[in-house]
Amino acid sequence: MKKLIGPFTQMLPLTELPLKGALKDEQLHLIPNGGLLVEGGLILAIGDFDELRKANPSVFIEEIQGQQVLLPGFIDCHTHICFAGNRAKDYAMRIAGKTYLEIAKAGGGIWDSVTQTRAADEATLTNLLIQRANRHLAEGVTTIEVKSGYGLSLDEELKQLHAIQAASAQTEAKLIPTCLAAHMVPRDFAGSQEEYLQHLTNDLLPVIKQERLTNRIDIFIEQSAMDTQNGLAYLNKAKQMGFDITVHADQFTTGGSAGAVQVGAVSADHLEASGEIEISLLAASNTVAVTLPGASLGLGMPYAPARKLLDGGACLAIASDWNPGSAPMGDLLMQAAVMSASEKLSAAEVFAGLTFRAAAALKIQGGILAPGMPADMQAYPCADYREILYYQGKLKPGTVWIAGKSHV
Ligand code: NIG
Ligand code: FE
Repeated sequence: MKKLIGPFTQMLPLTELPLKGALKDEQLHLIPNGGLLVEGGLILAIGDFDELRKANPSVFIEEIQGQQVLLPGFIDCHTHICFAGNRAKDYAMRIAGKTYLEIAKAGGGIWDSVTQTRAADEATLTNLLIQRANRHLAEGVTTIEVKSGYGLSLDEELKQLHAIQAASAQTEAKLIPTCLAAHMVPRDFAGSQEEYLQHLTNDLLPVIKQERLTNRIDIFIEQSAMDTQNGLAYLNKAKQMGFDITVHADQFTTGGSAGAVQVGAVSADHLEASGEIEISLLAASNTVAVTLPGASLGLGMPYAPARKLLDGGACLAIASDWNPGSAPMGDLLMQAAVMSASEKLSAAEVFAGLTFRAAAALKIQGGILAPGMPADMQAYPCADYREILYYQGKLKPGTVWIAGKSHV
């Protein structure tokens, strides 16, 4: 059924903005008294509410009350929300002064979440994931990438990917799965890093392909995880098999982002340790630079050089990295708003990074309000889009729509 939604005090379609580089708020196209014509889950037309109503006299109207600012739904292009348990112990050690690497060496870190996630059955894991996805959806995040990577064996990685598949059918949020079996070499694997990655290539990736569980492969390239040489060999093989590549890169030390650019990864994520060389490489490439302020906040470490990446000409997306270890908060808007104050990002850059630039990191359409796009969107109870970042994440959307259907 066709319907007209509005009037919105202000509508930000985020259209006609470049995919890469710095943005000024003056470039934002603002539509006052906005309306959207929606059919079959897609946007048919956007524009002035009264004009749309005149042109469609008998159409059903979903009337918006009070002052509301409409944005595309956020796209969180990097999360690890398929996990069981928590790592409050790690966090306590960290705020008492231990480093991420020290905690990992003392038996905490990723391996602890692997143990807790393995202990949960698929149905439990699915339910935990649905709850987190629904919380994100209520906060305006309509598309969520979800990584495996807390299984780290054939069966356990498949269990995670199956849980993501099952959750997709039970939440309105759109979930995009990614295989992160190359998160670290599992402690119980009897062999070298090279052998583990070969095992993944030979035994796991063909099953994932056959079962169509995901077309995205991720790896953690870092001193404590996979080295660049082994990592590149793995990624090249995955690429030959037809997978899209994304990389956890330059979190503590460099190497990952150069590798990501070299294999033509869709995105290089983290980048806290990236310097001038890495910034230039990313800016000259089609690899989206994904900054994860939630990990910086969780670890008490500096943000990725978001300002420099944008000024250098990179495509910068902002994601939550929501995970039980380094980024337990999972509040994407709050993280983006807080980082923007330190990194000096304009509202246009923040909203672009949370929408159509994040869509590019996932190679999906969306993140803009335009004819033909899914009607995934969110309305904030305010009169001016600048209030959204001003309240640093405490102002939440009053209504969230997926495919034109309202949820909150
Ligand atoms: O993106 N850096 C590697 N992986 C995750 C952390 C996972 C964990 O600590 O459980 C991240 O921050
Ligand atoms: Fe991550």
